Amino acid sequence: MDRVLTNLSFVSMQPETGYQCIHDGVIGITGNKISFVGKSNDADLHGHPDVIDCQGALVTPGFIDCHTHLIFAGNRANEFEQRLQGVPYETIAKQGGGILATVTATREASEDTLYELAIERLEGLKRDGVTTVEIKSGYGLSLEDELKMLRVAKRINELDDIKVSTTLLAAHALPPEYKDKPDDYIDLICQQIIPAAAEQQLADAVDVFCENIGFTNAQCQRVFIAAIEHGLSLKGHTEQLSNQGGSALAASMGATSVDHIEHLDQQGVNSLKHHGTVATLLPGAFYFLRETQMPPIAHLRAAEVPMAIATDFNPGTSPMASLRLMMNMASTLFGLTPEESLRGVTCNAAQALGLHETRGQIRVGMEADLAIWQLEHPAELTYRIGVPDLLARVVDGAFFYA
Ligand code: NIG
Ligand code: FE
Repeated sequence: MDRVLTNLSFVSMQPETGYQCIHDGVIGITGNKISFVGKSNDADLHGHPDVIDCQGALVTPGFIDCHTHLIFAGNRANEFEQRLQGVPYETIAKQGGGILATVTATREASEDTLYELAIERLEGLKRDGVTTVEIKSGYGLSLEDELKMLRVAKRINELDDIKVSTTLLAAHALPPEYKDKPDDYIDLICQQIIPAAAEQQLADAVDVFCENIGFTNAQCQRVFIAAIEHGLSLKGHTEQLSNQGGSALAASMGATSVDHIEHLDQQGVNSLKHHGTVATLLPGAFYFLRETQMPPIAHLRAAEVPMAIATDFNPGTSPMASLRLMMNMASTLFGLTPEESLRGVTCNAAQALGLHETRGQIRVGMEADLAIWQLEHPAELTYRIGVPDLLARVVDGAFFYA
């Protein structure tokens, strides 16, 4: 062991027993991996050169925000005002505002500007113990601008203290140049944008917005087929505003997660169960759009579909860079237990990104990504918002103090 953390409590988030708080714990790190997990009695630390006394702190896996749109320019506070005067999100989108307003601003911005803006937003997530963040494109909607966004995400991944999963979301909205020609835009995505993103190794996954103001199931299916052909994994924005059957489609094609899912029906739940797809809840967007249709939590629970929780940080529906706020909302708005909320940002979030073999649990052999908290019980992570409880994050074995 290169480094040993002692005098701590931890929740491993391993399946079954992982929420049990183990006191008097010891965690050993070798290189970028966890190499020992146990109690102080089981560890011989005599004369070890690098022992860190955590002074009774609580250690969890580093948090994973598995769904964000962190990269964009401008903001949409004007639409927030419009919506509060009664104009629906869909109406604003149909009038050329919404996602397309952010597309205009993002196309005009340089890579450096987008990078600086995203780095600022990331600070909020880091304060909540995030060590892995998924970042989507989707405000470029052209070959050049989608790749520009993904390059910015890859540049963020070069930082030592955060790991980034990148997702191509070219099928987010129809760009103005393709008005009334959605299938031509899908051709562009399948024939040019996906191949280029794959060839330049800019994307881990491909996402779609399957919705009556987004793309049809048939169009999303074409995008998924192209993604599979290029070895990329699949995700979907599905059943957010209406029930289109997009979740079942995505699951049947092997998607790692389907996200939003307020309008998911029992058949959709069965499909997630059958295909091992994670249900990602985005309570920030639910709250911000003042939605009333609740995701089918009881059915997901009964079917044992893993539930993840993410910020969906974006300028239109969730301008909130706090994953702990989302855990709190998942519990207060959707009724998740604090254990389910914590699984939602650790082991289940890792699975939503296809990273559950290597991240999201405190387990020997996994990457040494941890969050160290000045808290006594893991339920406090979900219960309390805005108090600076984080002491440090550990990313690939390196310490970053809060
Ligand atoms: O996840 N649903 C579509 N996409 C985003 C919203 C994007 C926007 O309004 O800018 C979401 O909620
Ligand atoms: Fe989203």
